Amino acid sequence: MEKVCVIGAGSTKYGKLQESIADITVQASVDAIESAGIEPKEIEAGYISNVFGVADKQVHLGPVVMSNLGIPEKPSLSIESACGSGSVAFREAFANVAGGFYDAVLVTGVEKVTHTGTEWTTTYFSYCSDFFYEGQAGASFPGLFASMARAYLTEFKATEEDLAMVAVKNHDNGFLNPKAHLRKKITIDDVMNSAVVASPLKLYDCCPFSDGASSVILCNEKFAKQHTKNYIRVIGSGRGGSPAALQGRNHLTTIPSTKIAAEAAYKMAGIKPKNVDFAEVHDCFTIAEIVDTEDLGFFDKGKAVEAVRDGKTRLNGEIPINPSGGLKSKGHPIGATGVGQVVEVFDQLTGRAGERTVKDAKIGLTHNFGATGASCAVHIFQSV
Ligand SMILES: CC(C)(COP(=O)(O)OP(=O)(O)OC[C@H]1O[C@@H](n2cnc3c(N)ncnc32)[C@H](O)[C@@H]1OP(=O)(O)O)[C@@H](O)C(=O)NCCC(=O)NCCS
Repeated sequence: MEKVCVIGAGSTKYGKLQESIADITVQASVDAIESAGIEPKEIEAGYISNVFGVADKQVHLGPVVMSNLGIPEKPSLSIESACGSGSVAFREAFANVAGGFYDAVLVTGVEKVTHTGTEWTTTYFSYCSDFFYEGQAGASFPGLFASMARAYLTEFKATEEDLAMVAVKNHDNGFLNPKAHLRKKITIDDVMNSAVVASPLKLYDCCPFSDGASSVILCNEKFAKQHTKNYIRVIGSGRGGSPAALQGRNHLTTIPSTKIAAEAAYKMAGIKPKNVDFAEVHDCFTIAEIVDTEDLGFFDKGKAVEAVRDGKTRLNGEIPINPSGGLKSKGHPIGATGVGQVVEVFDQLTGRAGERTVKDAKIGLTHNFGATGASCAVHIFQSV
């Protein structure tokens, strides 16, 4: 296998955007190409992740992006894997560069949904659940994650205030991120007093609906060395699956696909969870971050809440989680999120993260799943 590197990264701001889906996809792609210091013609293929392009009247985004970059003859692949689309696109690109099919490729994720309003977006998103058992029965994502939260609070000594602390921490980090959607500090009282969305989850336990696009350039190490000194290596990649509907799982307080993907990624990287310096994890709801950090092996089962109480996951803690602000504060444009996590790791490990830089970090991990974790990908990166 070729060694695979990330040599450039770019992102639009996340939030409610006015530009078209095609425009923001191209903007992020151009940013990534410029940050890599390469010409578009050096890109050999494009991997474009998106879920609801139909909501902005543009599907089959791959050829549209390549045409706008002036390389219409280059092949592209449009990828959908619900909220985990970005990391699946990244994985496909990784596999193709590692396998020697291409020297350099573009991976761009995008979503543009906020113009459809909360009611429609909630309905669209529920199509990503196992619709027969969940969506059509009225179980939208806040409800499904509320079931997981209720199970966790019942099984372990955890409280709604513990969940609130995750939101407070991620908003603190997002406040330092100029591209974050919800860029404001909040308190535990703000979370506890916010409107109940699906008990025990309240407004501030939920990620927002966001628009946005993120992009990275992947290449083999020979290509990286020819173009820049500022690159990072992809040292681990793993994917996994879980029963699509929650009712098919044995436990609601763990996500099987995360464990499978993480085990494969750690094995490829030849490292243990304790070697990871920081992680961007899929915190679509505060409970998800708690469950993720246990499934990724950072904390024992039932112990992540203690870690949050002790500040271990804060920016200056033992294992900073979601320095970008995470889905909770940075935002969650679902097709872009997995790629946006890689942008954050690239920024952190190449000195571009400004005030939210994790001190002395050398190894970063990304974790991104689709729906309630029906599909998942984990990637591990190392500075050079
Ligand atoms: C929580 C949720 C229901 C709120 O929707 P809403 O009540 O229609 O919110 P609106 O868009 O009308 O915004 C109302 C206000 O709340 C804020 N807001 C919206 N969502 C927010 C969130 N998740 N966290 C904090 N603030 C939020 C808005 O900025 C706005 O503030 P303003 O009045 O100061 O401008 C919606 O964001 C949601 O469903 N989130 C989950 C998305 C999801 O399921 N993603 C997939 C995960 S698997």
